[in-house]
Amino acid sequence: MPGTPTALPTALPAARTPDPMDAPALRWGVMGTGWIAERFVRSVHRHTRQRFTAVASRDAARAEDFAGRHGVPGSYGSYEDLAAAPDVDVVYIATEHTAHLACARIALEGGKHILVEKPIGLDAAQAAEIAELATGQGLFCAEALWTFFLPKFDVIRQLLDSGALGEIHTVLADLGEYFTAEHRILRPELAGGPLLDLGTYPVSLATWVLGAPAETLASGQPHPAGVNGQTSAILRGPQGSQAVLHTTLFSDTPTTATLAGSRATLSLPGPFYQPGDLVLTPSGGGTQLTYTEPRTAHDALYYEAAEVARCIAAGLRETPLRPLEDSVVTLRAMDEIRRLCGITFDQ
Ligand SMILES: NC(=O)c1ccc[n+]([C@@H]2O[C@H](COP(=O)([O-])OP(=O)(O)OC[C@H]3O[C@@H](n4cnc5c(N)ncnc54)[C@H](OP(=O)(O)O)[C@@H]3O)[C@@H](O)[C@H]2O)c1
Repeated sequence: MPGTPTALPTALPAARTPDPMDAPALRWGVMGTGWIAERFVRSVHRHTRQRFTAVASRDAARAEDFAGRHGVPGSYGSYEDLAAAPDVDVVYIATEHTAHLACARIALEGGKHILVEKPIGLDAAQAAEIAELATGQGLFCAEALWTFFLPKFDVIRQLLDSGALGEIHTVLADLGEYFTAEHRILRPELAGGPLLDLGTYPVSLATWVLGAPAETLASGQPHPAGVNGQTSAILRGPQGSQAVLHTTLFSDTPTTATLAGSRATLSLPGPFYQPGDLVLTPSGGGTQLTYTEPRTAHDALYYEAAEVARCIAAGLRETPLRPLEDSVVTLRAMDEIRRLCGITFDQ
């Protein structure tokens, strides 16, 4: 989606991300007490004025334990009870993938705005259903794809909007991580395999930069646990551009990304989806430009919470940084990759 070409920049733009501390303070609830819930609540409390007033788990003792560790005043033994809580404005849904739709419905029916972990649903149909439910209730909804809320990605957004890279013919992106046997990513009944957990990042990058694919090629390798183990895909953009993508749970891979344009190439060292550097190299050589930010990994989850709070306070029902239609397009691309590889979920 390059804009009108301009001269190559002599410096990279500064991120326009507002100070997260300035976002209006909302009262948050969290559904689920797993790996990402821990990190999100810690990051948000540390870096913003947002406050978690309640946590819900399927198990009351687990919710109480989580609440105690994070200074959260309320805890519930069911997601429904959290949805009915009067002191919660917005619910962060941190349950595993297969529970996102049900949790979104519960929270929206309770009148709560929602921020749903990635992928927002198992497939494009679920993503669209969640978006429609939120629209019908007049409530805010976003996919918690934190990458798009990072300052680094606002720099990329400006480079794309200004056409600084020229025509982008190629996107390369990979995300591979080694998982031990007990992780839910190896469980077929939880829609395991790398595509939803890890592949969301390369696929969403490609569809953001090149648009919805006109054609897809893909190949997968099964894992003995009964899920997909790795997948490679080529997404051909509407103008013939190509995204070459890979994701695996067999091994740690470089997790880098490259946006290659006719005027310049933008390199995102691994892990490309986390805070870190950008390097712009003019085509044919020339002075490289580098953007640097602290590599704070998941401690940077708070940027998305601040954006949600700003949007809700402004009366918006979604965020321009990750529109719901983009979530649907990403999942539609992953649906097609799964169809080509014969990857099905139990649900
Ligand atoms: N943004 C990121 O960087 C990032 C990183 C990792 C994961 N994620 C996303 O966040 C979501 C959760 O991932 P996670 O790694 O935090 O998973 P996790 O540690 O397994 O936690 C998932 C939580 O889901 C709840 N749950 C509801 N129904 C469940 C069921 N049938 N089986 C198991 N758990 C169930 C559980 O909470 P209770 O038992 O308390 O109800 C559990 O703690 C996933 O969709 C994932 O893609 C995002």
